[in-house]
Amino acid sequence: MGEAGGGKRWNFGANEVVELSCSQYVRYYMNVLADNLDPTDNRPVIPLAHGDPAPFPSFRTDPAAVEAISDALHSGQFNHYANTSGLPIARKAVAEHLSLGLSYQISPDDVHLTAGGHNAIDVLISTLAVPGANILLPRPSYPMYNARAGFSKLEIRSYDLLPEKGWEVDLDVVEALADDKTVAIVVVTPCNPCGNVFSRQHLQKIAETASKLGILVIADEVYRNITFGETPFVSMAEFADIVPVMLLGSISKRWLVPGWRFGWMVTVDPHNIMKDSGLVHSLVNVLNMSIDPVTFIQGAMPDILEKTKEEFFSGKMEILRECAETCYEEIKKIPCMSCPYKPEASMFTMVKLEPSVLEDIKDDLEFCCKLAKEESLMILPGRSVGFKNWLRITFAVEPALLKDGLSRLNKFAQRHSKKKLQP
Ligand SMILES: Cc1ncc(COP(=O)(O)O)c(C=O)c1O
Repeated sequence: MGEAGGGKRWNFGANEVVELSCSQYVRYYMNVLADNLDPTDNRPVIPLAHGDPAPFPSFRTDPAAVEAISDALHSGQFNHYANTSGLPIARKAVAEHLSLGLSYQISPDDVHLTAGGHNAIDVLISTLAVPGANILLPRPSYPMYNARAGFSKLEIRSYDLLPEKGWEVDLDVVEALADDKTVAIVVVTPCNPCGNVFSRQHLQKIAETASKLGILVIADEVYRNITFGETPFVSMAEFADIVPVMLLGSISKRWLVPGWRFGWMVTVDPHNIMKDSGLVHSLVNVLNMSIDPVTFIQGAMPDILEKTKEEFFSGKMEILRECAETCYEEIKKIPCMSCPYKPEASMFTMVKLEPSVLEDIKDDLEFCCKLAKEESLMILPGRSVGFKNWLRITFAVEPALLKDGLSRLNKFAQRHSKKKLQP
């Protein structure tokens, strides 16, 4: 409520809940960084702040996926509204795709299609946000969960991921944080922002802890199969016998098409716990009020999932592996930062900043703002993912651009380091 237009009082104005929750979101910090860019710098801006490699030639999607979309459009069969949880052919295709290599068979009825992983988070958090409830979120986090929970007034309790233990979940903290109002724990594997993937043993421990606490496991597998190190990807669905699991996923990252906005929520619930509790019914009610993924993309899903060849995925994993290696090795050479864990999954790494060795920079936010201004290089301050004085860097960009970015980062760090550290 405010006064504007010659002192007249109006009954509307800013929404403080929105202001507060949105200030925790990546796009907010991206805008802050963009405002700091120097328009007179003629060099290309290097975007290491957000994970979207799709614009770069090395990360083009598979032609088979483009052809599937084109065929769906030309068929003229997918111009209509879709049903609440999605077209049956698309739900079936996703169920079959996710069941591959899994010891549990996912039914098409368990699959609810969404406009990307983002929309799945929206729907799920809205459904879980009953008055008084709380949710366990990782720290560092994918901050969309925090923003969305804050917006829905679902209390956030943050548990730590431990850098010294390969970013595993601190399960003692999880147990200490939960109470009888805790509805769920979110785990992101492969992990944005830490670049790790949970082992089978660790997933089992998380499932057992959640079962003991009587809470749902929300497994964000948007980076499903994006692994290029020693630890293979294992789906949380493998542990649905222990605890009900809600899988979230999308084609945004693996097919490199975040703009296509196609994702899913899958209830993996062999004992019908989610169904009998009424959660699935409420979820479908929220889906009824929500936007659907575009119908022609749903129509193309069977072909996208079936016809994309293994060589496409393995080729992209190789590029990502090399980019992760370059990033890790180059960071080691920079005086004011360290990377406790070599990334082996997703598209990101967390880097620890030592502001005490910098001359005129007090924290991560100032570091990133000055970096944007002086080097046209965008890196996300760790506070945006809940880790102050860390940085989140994406290595999923064109390899030559990544090398240029890391060299700019090194020069910037040298220039701002206390003199005694310089050669
Ligand atoms: C962990 C995680 N979950 C969900 C999403 C949202 O997925 P989508 O791009 O499919 O909306 C992202 C996007 O970056 C993500 O990193």
